Amino acid sequence: MSDENTQILLTVGILGGTGKEGAGLAMRWALNGYRVIIGSRSEEKATTRATEMNEELGGDYITGMGNEDCAKESNLVVLSVPYGAHKPTLESVKEHCAGKVLVDLTVPLQPPEIMSVNLPEGNAAALEAQDILGDEVTVVAAFQNVSSVKLKKLDQPVDCDVLVCGDNADAKQEVIQLVKAAGMRGIDAGALKNAVAVEALTPVLLYINKAYKVKGAGIRITGVED
Ligand SMILES: NC(=O)c1ccc[n+]([C@@H]2O[C@H](COP(=O)([O-])OP(=O)(O)OC[C@H]3O[C@@H](n4cnc5c(N)ncnc54)[C@H](OP(=O)(O)O)[C@@H]3O)[C@@H](O)[C@H]2O)c1
Repeated sequence: MSDENTQILLTVGILGGTGKEGAGLAMRWALNGYRVIIGSRSEEKATTRATEMNEELGGDYITGMGNEDCAKESNLVVLSVPYGAHKPTLESVKEHCAGKVLVDLTVPLQPPEIMSVNLPEGNAAALEAQDILGDEVTVVAAFQNVSSVKLKKLDQPVDCDVLVCGDNADAKQEVIQLVKAAGMRGIDAGALKNAVAVEALTPVLLYINKAYKVKGAGIRITGVED
């Protein structure tokens, strides 16, 4: 699963890839050898967005599809929708995710209170995702602390680390490679339940953004060699 040659052929599908966070990741992965499909509730919106992204990238890199087809046609699925759309989106693609890794980058924010921690009913969006999708899908949590503002500067590395949580070691390594392909360092941050802490860090970063008048506060792990 984490072999370099298979990564070149891996198709990554991003549900909600029409949005801010998903689009940045889509373009970075496309530039680094992954096949990328962006998903949307509207196939037309997805194809239009894919065309815009391809124009920006200067090549035919990204394909747009409805979310269900996006999940079906991908080897690995990324969920990039607001928390309010988390459950219905997962339910709509569940059958197409069986046997695959699903990367959940959802932060369970409760607007307008986005600068304080909101623990959802299942303690973490990623734990809820695993519960909704069942044992046939391997959920890995990552990217919750990465600002879309930084991701969209495609010519620059992103100045932060990415904590990767999951219960399957191979799946975590695969996601750590994806993190690298997006221009960051992935850190194995333990079990999926540790996503409770990682998701909860994002409102802290949003508070720091406001307090220090910056746009993309992020996190770095010190003491770990590359
Ligand atoms: N933005 C950031 O800097 C950032 C950083 C870290 C983590 N995150 C997390 O990443 C996820 C996506 O964030 P984002 O900023 O990219 O969000 P976004 O741009 O607001 O939305 C992403 C996509 O989700 C779909 N969507 C929006 N509302 C929906 C609804 N009610 N039902 C179903 N689908 C809906 C839309 O796709 P279609 O209309 O095409 O279906 C939209 O393009 C969130 O969970 C967020 O917490 C974001």
